[in-house]
Amino acid sequence: MLEQFERYPLTFGPSPIERLDRLSEHLGATVEIHAKREDCNSGLAFGGNKIRKLEYLVPDILKQGADTLVTIGGIQSNHTRQVAAVAAKLGLRCRLVQESWVPFPDAVYDRVGNILMSRVMGAEIELVDRGFDIGIRDSWEQALEDVRARGGTPYPIPAGASVHELGGLGYVGFAEEVRQQEREMDLHFDYIVVCTVTGSTHAGMVVGFAADGRARNVIGIDASATPEKTGDQVREIAGRTADLVGLGRTIEADEVVLNRDYAYPVYGVPSDETNDAIRLCARLEGMMTDPVYEGKSMQGLIDLVRKGYFPEGSRVLYAHLGGVPAINGYSYLYRNG
Ligand SMILES: Cc1ncc(COP(=O)(O)O)c(C=O)c1O
Repeated sequence: MLEQFERYPLTFGPSPIERLDRLSEHLGATVEIHAKREDCNSGLAFGGNKIRKLEYLVPDILKQGADTLVTIGGIQSNHTRQVAAVAAKLGLRCRLVQESWVPFPDAVYDRVGNILMSRVMGAEIELVDRGFDIGIRDSWEQALEDVRARGGTPYPIPAGASVHELGGLGYVGFAEEVRQQEREMDLHFDYIVVCTVTGSTHAGMVVGFAADGRARNVIGIDASATPEKTGDQVREIAGRTADLVGLGRTIEADEVVLNRDYAYPVYGVPSDETNDAIRLCARLEGMMTDPVYEGKSMQGLIDLVRKGYFPEGSRVLYAHLGGVPAINGYSYLYRNG
């Protein structure tokens, strides 16, 4: 589906798929859980899902002759860190708007993890005291204006690269990569579990897996705690990405499955159950997840297995999208493990 699109390689190649045997056994061995490790997909500042998306934006960035990438996220945004890394790799400047999306009081929250790395990689960072919203923000539009006023040529990348017209392509590619790996491994995944916030990861997968009839088997776990907005955005991106790649049919509303049970209490703040899931997965598999995104989708995966949501014998692929650097911002919470 992606032959017509240029891709600038930023990843190591196909991300590895790993069996999580001890977690599967702990949950009663009713299903076989695997993880696709997007968290180790690249050498660019710890990688993650945005690197895969940005591979399809970079040719456009270069074509337009931009000299500054301008994007937005929360203070511990993984997306802004990955944009900063790509800017460094391409020899471009980077301007980041980082808003107070998470009401979290850790004393080092704005000094460690993602934001620390973005600073070290030379990004210009502006902290803005505004709450969570996945929509287009005037702080970001102002940053674009600022760059122009200084004589620069900005390239706008919206939050999560999601509402960018090419933002869904990377995870269409993910589905194609999974199909290839299934052939090589001689197996078939019945379900894919993915964390969803700004929407283009999930939307790209819906389009990619629609090609083999598995769109409804992509189980999005909302971590935004604003699931109406996130669901609308996933459907909007899936619809236009399907057109863009020439899927040949529209995406039905019920092909976007978004579970809203695990995002509580709010975006960026882990519940006790999320923390239990983070610890369980870390202690059984040595696989780290974070309190903002993957901890919530791991909680969802574990709870859905326990509830018998997946028929016995199913193979479930957990998409690990990265995000662990943010755990440093929660150092007090995990001071005893
Ligand atoms: C680690 C991690 N997981 C999941 C997501 C959700 O992806 P998306 O914003 O494409 O829905 C993000 C980014 O928002 C992320 O950084």
